[in-house]
Amino acid sequence: RKILLINGPNLNLLGTREPHIYGNTTLQDVVDAAQKQAVDLDVSLDAFQSNWEGAIIDRIQQARTEGVDAIIINPGAFTHTSVAIRDALLGVAIPFVELHVSNVHARETFRHHSYFQDKAVAVVCGMGVYGYTAALEFAAKYMKIS
Ligand code: DQA
Repeated sequence: RKILLINGPNLNLLGTREPHIYGNTTLQDVVDAAQKQAVDLDVSLDAFQSNWEGAIIDRIQQARTEGVDAIIINPGAFTHTSVAIRDALLGVAIPFVELHVSNVHARETFRHHSYFQDKAVAVVCGMGVYGYTAALEFAAKYMKIS
């Protein structure tokens, strides 16, 4: 079973970016921990980060040819803007979990709307980087993937 973890713009700055909101853990730490967890869960995990909307869309389209069973995506600010990434996820028809480190609902009103929330199997937010652990366990154990 294959799971793809996608992190969008500015998440490469995790650990140094607004640490009062996003914490001190780096994206590399998050990905390393997720890779270890994937071994325990007996799933294969691929991690991808880009600041570019088109690169994220290309990666989602590639996921279909690779037979990815589930996607965990933190779309960053594209959450609030990107019809194109939404269309890519719907186009490949791979079930996905939407993930945010911060509680977007407790922040600026422009973060309250998501172009993904009505299509996601689950939405994780406000758990800090633990959300990645929770989302991966959920995807591996509870999502209806082959
Ligand atoms: C985020 C929340 C978004 O509103 C923001 O633009 C991000 C990160 C989060 O993980 O909390 O870049 O997706």
